[in-house]
Amino acid sequence: MRVLAIESSCDECAAAVVGPGPILLGQQVATQIPIHSPYGGVVPELASRDHIRKIVIVIEKALERAGLTLAQIDGYGVTAGPGLIGSLLIGVNAAKALSWSQGRPLVGVHHLEAHLHAIYLAEPDFAYPHLGLVVSGGHTSLIRVDGVSKLHLISRTLDDAAGEALDKVATLLGLAYPGGVSIQQAAEGGDPKSFRFPRPIPGKRLDFSFSGLKTAAAVRVKKEGLPVGPALCDFAASFQEAVVDVLVKKTIAAAQQENLKRILVAGGVAANLRLRQVMQSRAEKMDLEVRFPAPSLCTDNAAMVAALSAAYLTKGAPPADLCLDANAGLRWPDA
Ligand code: KG4
Ligand code: ZN
Repeated sequence: MRVLAIESSCDECAAAVVGPGPILLGQQVATQIPIHSPYGGVVPELASRDHIRKIVIVIEKALERAGLTLAQIDGYGVTAGPGLIGSLLIGVNAAKALSWSQGRPLVGVHHLEAHLHAIYLAEPDFAYPHLGLVVSGGHTSLIRVDGVSKLHLISRTLDDAAGEALDKVATLLGLAYPGGVSIQQAAEGGDPKSFRFPRPIPGKRLDFSFSGLKTAAAVRVKKEGLPVGPALCDFAASFQEAVVDVLVKKTIAAAQQENLKRILVAGGVAANLRLRQVMQSRAEKMDLEVRFPAPSLCTDNAAMVAALSAAYLTKGAPPADLCLDANAGLRWPDA
């Protein structure tokens, strides 16, 4: 089965074709970084307007890259939520139009489940069950994954997502948007032990909290002024280390609590080199296996949506009809 899917939940407008199975045939991702850069974050109205401009071009390009025409597509997939409602609406309506006009089935999928499913594009046999950490600009969640559509939320952030904290602190430091990558780059030459940042929430709790950590960075800048030169690198490295440390500790604790031997880290922040390094080395010590999708499949993309949609359609999940709606607060498949 060849499946074309669309991702437009936030600021990436993407389409991809997979099949048979989770084999990527072609993808096109149109980023909106230059549009949102001056604001230091995604402006929802600008995002949805740009999706309208790009969606048809992106679909055509993905098909061209796959060397296929619409007539050769057997089914469609789309991120139905969660995300920005205006952005989601563009993708969902484009997918419904394709499905209806071509007479092929459509499935709407959950954005976080798609992030977790990205690993199957590289490793189709990655075994269930495993412990998933989805860490992005909008989410930081620990999830027990027992199979496609069999997900159980263990914990999540009580306030900011890890990516949001990285983005906001990068803006505070005058670094380029999106901040996660800028912090990683600035941290390269820095000493992660030079500034002391808190590790919220301490103890055995598995919930995350990043807003206090973000405030600690802001208070420090207010008191001591903006770090420059080597001090900026030290600041970025120390802040990144605090975020990474918390993510790694809680993920490993959750894997142990759930008695799971495999960890899967997904979402935009999973592209972070320091997170990959620390997670790998600490998990190895605990005899746990860790997987990360390729960095380009960690940030928002349609290949992950297509791979998950193909899994739903091939396992015979009832297809959506024209009533499929975008849902900004879409709940887990098991909820
Ligand atoms: O998954 P994603 O593309 O969109 C959401 O679903 O939120 O994640 C975007 C987030 C942003 O906060 C961005 O700064 C962060 O992922 N990010 C990174 C890196 N690449 C992207 N954070 C740290 N290190 C990176 N290399
Ligand atoms: Zn995402």
